[in-house]
Amino acid sequence: MYLYGASGHAKVILDIAYANKKQVEGLIDDNDSIHSLAGVEVYRSHTVYPEMELLISIGNNEIRKRIAEQFKANYVSLIHPSAIVSPSALVSKTGTVVMQGVVLQAEVEVGNHCIINTACSIDHECKIEDFVHISPNSTLCGNVHIGAGTWIGAGTTILPGVKIGKWCTIGAGSVVSKNIPDYTLAAGNRCKIIKKLK
Ligand SMILES: CC(C)(COP(=O)(O)OP(=O)(O)OC[C@H]1O[C@@H](n2cnc3c(N)ncnc32)[C@H](O)[C@@H]1OP(=O)(O)O)[C@@H](O)C(=O)NCCC(=O)NCCS
Repeated sequence: MYLYGASGHAKVILDIAYANKKQVEGLIDDNDSIHSLAGVEVYRSHTVYPEMELLISIGNNEIRKRIAEQFKANYVSLIHPSAIVSPSALVSKTGTVVMQGVVLQAEVEVGNHCIINTACSIDHECKIEDFVHISPNSTLCGNVHIGAGTWIGAGTTILPGVKIGKWCTIGAGSVVSKNIPDYTLAAGNRCKIIKKLK
């Protein structure tokens, strides 16, 4: 398989691929100054072809979406073996990564091209739409809904049943107790709306 994006985030995903005994044949990155990362060769984006097994290793949701739309490839998902995934949880097989120490409880649904970062706890019946990034050590209580493209900052706690709209950013360490509308930057304990995002 290949990873798109030669960055620190890619180094973590390399570890996850190796833990799954997957061979990573190369990385893709159009930064001409990068020729290898963690011992893996870096190729340019013109080498991507539709049958290539690919995972986008870029943390920014908007860029990940743009690349997924631009490049036709066989996008695959990776789950680190240390993650605990309920038998009734559904994790998309398209471009999603579930990192070390994550817990996905019963009937959780995770969409395409998502990042469930290190040691997140996602409780029963949470729904996570496409292109979401849940940063490390965040806790989603039961029945939380995260809209497409939303970024949840590290160490955030989201209380049961809360709905967060699409393309929101929630600041690190927030405690979210009320619904957050689409395209909103919100942060704090208790989480307050700071501004609308474009
Ligand atoms: C939310 C965040 C994206 C905002 O960044 P920004 O757009 O540069 O915004 P600013 O730093 O200018 O902050 C805007 C306001 O929000 C407040 N704010 C920002 N982040 C906050 C947070 N996490 N908790 C509480 N308030 C926060 C700032 O104090 C500031 O308030 P002020 O205008 O009264 O001074 C950033 O602070 C953050 O929390 N990033 C998450 C990082 C992370 O988790 N990374 C994980 C990678 S795996």
